[in-house]
Amino acid sequence: MEKIIVDGGIPLYGKVEISGMKNAAVAVVFASVLANDVCVIDNLPNISDVSDSLSILESIGAKIKVISKGAVEIDTRGVRDAEAPMELVRKMRASYYLAGALLGRFGSAKVGLPGGCDFGVRPIDLHVKAFEKLGATVTVGNGCIEAVANPEQGLRGKNIYFDCCSVGATINAILAAVLAEGSTIIENPAREPHVVDVANFLNACGADIRGAGTNIIKINGVEKLHGCEYSIIPDMIEAGTFMIAAAATGGKLYIDNIIPKHMEAVTEKLREMNITVEEYDEAVCVFCEDKMEAINVKTLPYPGFPTDMHPQMSVLLCLADGASTLSETIWSNRFRYVDELQRMGAKIKVEDKTAFFEGNTVFTPAVVKAVDLRAGAAMVIAALATKGRTEIEDIAYIERGYVDIVEKFRGVGGNIRKVYFPDTKQMNNAS
Ligand code: EPU
Repeated sequence: MEKIIVDGGIPLYGKVEISGMKNAAVAVVFASVLANDVCVIDNLPNISDVSDSLSILESIGAKIKVISKGAVEIDTRGVRDAEAPMELVRKMRASYYLAGALLGRFGSAKVGLPGGCDFGVRPIDLHVKAFEKLGATVTVGNGCIEAVANPEQGLRGKNIYFDCCSVGATINAILAAVLAEGSTIIENPAREPHVVDVANFLNACGADIRGAGTNIIKINGVEKLHGCEYSIIPDMIEAGTFMIAAAATGGKLYIDNIIPKHMEAVTEKLREMNITVEEYDEAVCVFCEDKMEAINVKTLPYPGFPTDMHPQMSVLLCLADGASTLSETIWSNRFRYVDELQRMGAKIKVEDKTAFFEGNTVFTPAVVKAVDLRAGAAMVIAALATKGRTEIEDIAYIERGYVDIVEKFRGVGGNIRKVYFPDTKQMNNAS
């Protein structure tokens, strides 16, 4: 067992390099199945969600070779239309991309239902709808999703309308459609930068996908794809996490290797709070020389304020001068971090889908948990902003999505370290 110990209250100063985006990387890794060739993927973040995705591919016949730090060669020529081990698939949400990729390449797929962070109900009805529209018969049951194309006709391009913006369903529809016969039009797709990154990767492999990042995506099916070299875009959520850490600790961080345009929603909200965000070509510099003002925030699909920045933003709203609100419109159960921040003295009340923050909080150190990935990041920020020693448990969640988070915060002056400790609960159970 590991935990993170933070002796906080020290303003963070310096430069942080942002890694490749988790949610683009995991999708591109699974999309490489469609290339049926050798792909070299660079700027892959060294996190457990990516290594688990690579292990899933290996388990069905892909050959993986690490070329250098962050660069991996994936040879998917030997991939079989086989079922990946459930214990791997259940570790992460993105394993559902295997369904779209296998269905697109082989005309059939059977994949265990994915795991991932617990935000309440995480339906897959839109994924099913997209596969069915393209001509597959889909069954969901016994912990699996099974999709089979008509053996004579295969998959055929169609119009797919989503009544709600889903990143996963949009990417799965693209994966299933790139090799289908004819044209597919996806209306009301998710417009997140990682959707665009997957489309760019597939286009580099010879696909014909237009309009990713807009309200309509058009995919002209092609006969086959080929390998390519591709570099994953920077992680906007990791960048946003460091932007908020700069403001929360009263420091100044230069956050490098990012696409500032992807940060617009976060940047605008920070500026509204009186926090300075200077934009450069591939970096932002964040600091706050005055009181942070209270604001109201609502999470929305891209280009709105990202739900994956919700818990981190809540830390700032606790520290702001006055009462703020944060409304969550994507995940019903995203407020589980509130109990943990309350242990540190936060004054937050949750009613329905909105958190009400009293503001002007002086956090006190405590022993807290990372209840999910972004909630864990929020606890790290709160701990760094708090005088005294805070201990964060269940940090495996954080390591699913943040590359070297402890080392990166140490690099800008944070007194933070990871320690191993015996799991007394398990020891007691075993005895
Ligand atoms: N939805 C449906 N039906 C579906 C699919 C989704 O109703 O078939 C609803 C969901 O209930 C939710 C909304 O659509 O209310 C958006 O869900 P989406 O499908 O976009 O989420 P996801 O693809 O499962 C990805 C990210 C999440 C991120 C969300 C929203 C990956 C691997 N995961 O999940 O990232 O919160 O999009 O932006 O890309 C994280 O990185 O910490 C994380 C949880």
